[in-house]
Amino acid sequence: MLLFSGNANIPLARNIAIALNATLDLTLSQYSDGESKITVHQEIQNQDVFIIQPTSFPANHNIIELCLLANTLRAKQARSITAVVPYFGYGRHDGDLNNGPSNAKLIMDLLIASGINRLITLDVHSKRLQKFLGLDLINISAMPLFANIPQIRQLQEPVIVSPDTGGIKRSQEFAKLLGNASTAILSKQRCSGNKTSTASIIGNVVNRNCIIVDDIIDTGNTIYTAAAALKDQGAQQIYVCCTHAVLSENALMCLQQSACDKIFATDSIRPKHDLTSAPKLSFVSIADLLAEVIHNR
Ligand code: R5P
Repeated sequence: MLLFSGNANIPLARNIAIALNATLDLTLSQYSDGESKITVHQEIQNQDVFIIQPTSFPANHNIIELCLLANTLRAKQARSITAVVPYFGYGRHDGDLNNGPSNAKLIMDLLIASGINRLITLDVHSKRLQKFLGLDLINISAMPLFANIPQIRQLQEPVIVSPDTGGIKRSQEFAKLLGNASTAILSKQRCSGNKTSTASIIGNVVNRNCIIVDDIIDTGNTIYTAAAALKDQGAQQIYVCCTHAVLSENALMCLQQSACDKIFATDSIRPKHDLTSAPKLSFVSIADLLAEVIHNR
């Protein structure tokens, strides 16, 4: 097995390589005009190769890097090419909003056209992606990692909260991991683009500690409004377990000023900001989890 990484999240790729006791090939540099330069010196014919590259910010650049790297490995006759894309950019563009096209599917098609046979994702936003043919998609969940965090495990009778109806299944699965905890659902209304507001709560959160679970924190608006609504309803402590810390715009300030006590995310995305301004935010590593999945392929 050979491990390669694009530039999206080299610390994560290094930690996966350490967990696998494997060497990591960093093969990307740039031409003076900004185009990516891929150099693979080693022999890879008939080998199974893995490329670690979340397609987070800058998503367009990281997607192209992934495709170029896969195309190069295919040209060198790798036996199989697995893209390990813990955060799948454009995953939210799955064709639902205003009957738009499925640009997520287009990204899948690009990966296939580049020679990728298998895709490993983590809590991919659109379950519909798993139904597309042409690529073996393995989607794993970060929820067991969150359920093992001591601060989460030791909460007495927590209520697991989905911040919107789309996340109900995830919150139910998380509730099971915590010994069939109670659940609550917030109904989120999208005002425009990233702007949302929380309309109503189904479930009792009065004097209860709550854990909001979600797949993505982007602007932080969903978490901010969800936590405010829970506090309004009499919730006590509020924790958040969210897989992907996209953290665009003023997300850090928004999270820090929110009613949340603690926010846990994974290192699927390499932070682009200095995180010292948001001490409420902590990270758990997915390196061992991904290493295990890679090892078992
Ligand atoms: C939406 O369906 C997702 O599951 C997240 O709730 C959303 O992407 C979070 O975005 P933001 O942090 O900008 O509210």
